[in-house]
Amino acid sequence: MIMLKNLFKKPEHKVDFENLPQHIGIIMDGNGRWAKKRGLPRSSGHAAGAKTFERIVEDAGNIGIKIVTVYAFSTENWSRPKEEVNALMALLEDYLDHGLERLSNRDVKIHFIGDMSAFSDEFQKKLCHMEKTTYNNSGLLLNVALNYGGRNEITNAVRIIAEKVKDGELSCSDITEETISEHLYTSGQADPDLIIRPSGEYRLSNFLLWQSAYSEFWYSNCLWPDFTKEDLLKSISDFQKRNRRFGGV
Ligand code: FPP
Repeated sequence: MIMLKNLFKKPEHKVDFENLPQHIGIIMDGNGRWAKKRGLPRSSGHAAGAKTFERIVEDAGNIGIKIVTVYAFSTENWSRPKEEVNALMALLEDYLDHGLERLSNRDVKIHFIGDMSAFSDEFQKKLCHMEKTTYNNSGLLLNVALNYGGRNEITNAVRIIAEKVKDGELSCSDITEETISEHLYTSGQADPDLIIRPSGEYRLSNFLLWQSAYSEFWYSNCLWPDFTKEDLLKSISDFQKRNRRFGGV
């Protein structure tokens, strides 16, 4: 009888809470297919994905993860149909208008990464307001990648560094890997230890190109709106079984 009970018990993933990944990156993929499977418009998939985003941010904070970076809108996503882009922008705006209290209740500090100049002044003001209001929160640091592309980020860093060389603030021979890191949107943060991509796709899609040099990748077939705390724990448990060598032996 007890054996039968164990057979139907949900798997529990053994996580060593003393040895968690510091920084987890998440490519929130599969919203469109989730909606299609239900005969719904793609925007409904994104709305469901936004709910999962909130749930997983809370779970990650409770588990004790220090930094989470989510890929919410890429530099390439502008090429989607106008109504889908508008639906995504509306979701983000709704989050900016109503998400602040939830972030503060969870002690989350938010940071937007990407080229914000593409957004209206009003939208940018809301982004700044959310960042400023949560600045002193000391729980999870949440990077939300908006109009973000890894190549764009590196190009931007190179441009700023070149300006500094031109102005005599920096000499070419002083440029190191740290100099590049310090000029990325994630300046001062640990690189992601683990990058999660659900939905059965095995690509980085221009996400954290520089920072992911030594990240461990974890893929699953589940679509992002269906992603649960169990999946997150499974990814962490699998991560903890990996042998990270950072180029050594
Ligand atoms: C990729 O799935 C997902 C996106 C391009 C958007 C992700 C955005 C959210 C989950 C909402 C974020 C909201 C807030 C408030 C941060 P896809 O549409 O490419 O899925 P598909 O491959 O199945 O078509």
